[in-house]
Amino acid sequence: MKQPILNPFRPGAGHPPPYLAGREEEKREFIRLLDQEPVLTNLVLTGLRGVGKTVLLETLKPLAIQKNWLWAGTDLSESAAVSEDSIAVRILADLSPLTANTLVSESEVRRVGFTATAEKQQTYLDFSFLKWLYDNTPGLTSDKLKTVLELVWTSLGADNSDIRGVVLAYDEAQNLSDQADRQQYPLSLLLDVFQSIQKKGLPFFLVLTGLPTLFPKLVEARTFTERMFHIMTLGRLAEAECRDAILKPITQHACPVRFTGAAVAEIVKYSGGYPYFIQFLCREMFDSYLQQKAGGEINPVVTVEQTIRKLDSDFFAGRWNRVTDRQRELLSVAARLPNCDDEFTVQEVVEQSRKGSEKPFSPSHVNQILAKLADNGLVYKNRHGRYVFAVPLLGGFIRRQEALEGA
Ligand SMILES: Nc1ncnc2c1ncn2[C@@H]1O[C@H](COP(=O)(O)OP(=O)(O)O)[C@@H](O)[C@H]1O
Ligand SMILES: [Mg+2]
Repeated sequence: MKQPILNPFRPGAGHPPPYLAGREEEKREFIRLLDQEPVLTNLVLTGLRGVGKTVLLETLKPLAIQKNWLWAGTDLSESAAVSEDSIAVRILADLSPLTANTLVSESEVRRVGFTATAEKQQTYLDFSFLKWLYDNTPGLTSDKLKTVLELVWTSLGADNSDIRGVVLAYDEAQNLSDQADRQQYPLSLLLDVFQSIQKKGLPFFLVLTGLPTLFPKLVEARTFTERMFHIMTLGRLAEAECRDAILKPITQHACPVRFTGAAVAEIVKYSGGYPYFIQFLCREMFDSYLQQKAGGEINPVVTVEQTIRKLDSDFFAGRWNRVTDRQRELLSVAARLPNCDDEFTVQEVVEQSRKGSEKPFSPSHVNQILAKLADNGLVYKNRHGRYVFAVPLLGGFIRRQEALEGA
């Protein structure tokens, strides 16, 4: 029987692409950071949804391991870290698989006052021990966590002198928030503890990944974070990198389906260089070609334009349907700005609205609506106080909608 033709493209959050294009400079930078001794600079990996933060983080892991770093961490999208205690316990749980086979020295066991159970003569750094130490250390949550991390490093370092340190990597870290009303400061806790243990020379290296709201949030919690992190902002892929992302999977898998030169150029153009859109367009076009072929079509024709319509309904429409009419009007005005895919100011939106036929917006109104849209995750305010669409290529979608409605 003939083997079915597999579609190599993988649009989807965190799905490893068939070929990870570009990001060479980011990998090199990460390797440089791994060479620090002591750790002074941690890493924030940021960018819009779909630019490839999660998959890049996954590719950094083997690089760290190759350099004798241990790697622990998780995805914080479940927002497990709403209290200080929960983020601390989260860290213990993430570290414990790395340390569970490491023995704690007799003298350390005596020093901390742990009494081993009769059946276990030796004490291992497993979760129950880490948690015991955490619970039985007097003081604030930060003191408890610092004590555990210090013991973890002393024991790991003593056990295996080749180990350079421990990378703690948290994805979707924009979900971490201090909550003054509940008097819970998990984000500040994390920053305080890392700053303190790194000052003491303990090689724990923090990697936080998240949406562009992440870094401003860190700085708001603790101003010293400005100096504590190197910010890596992932953006669109360059044209040659886009071509690699599109073409390499086809040649590597020896696919019988090919994209024409014109199709490749169109995919590059419409995707705006955003990895998620590249995967989406390629996957859809590939499938559609195969379906037509299976339906008996001798020369299937698949255009990027048809596929864009599917992208609009699958990806953008859900988000668009959740905004109110007045918010839509404002977004439409913003989408007419030539710089809408980069950043724009309240003033620019106001001025643009005066050029249109609808009722113009006042500055306070624009401010108010943009703040609301920011709460809903459609725009965000960047470090320079300017607004940016939080969904890549939203401007193009809005203009396409308008053209449809006008038609
Ligand atoms: N460098 C890249 N080359 C090709 N495809 C990529 C690249 N980076 C990400 N992708 C693809 O883009 C999509 C989004 O990646 P993901 O890591 O989930 O983004 P983020 O975490 O930033 O939201 C996935 O389908 C992934 O396979
Ligand atoms: Mg992600």
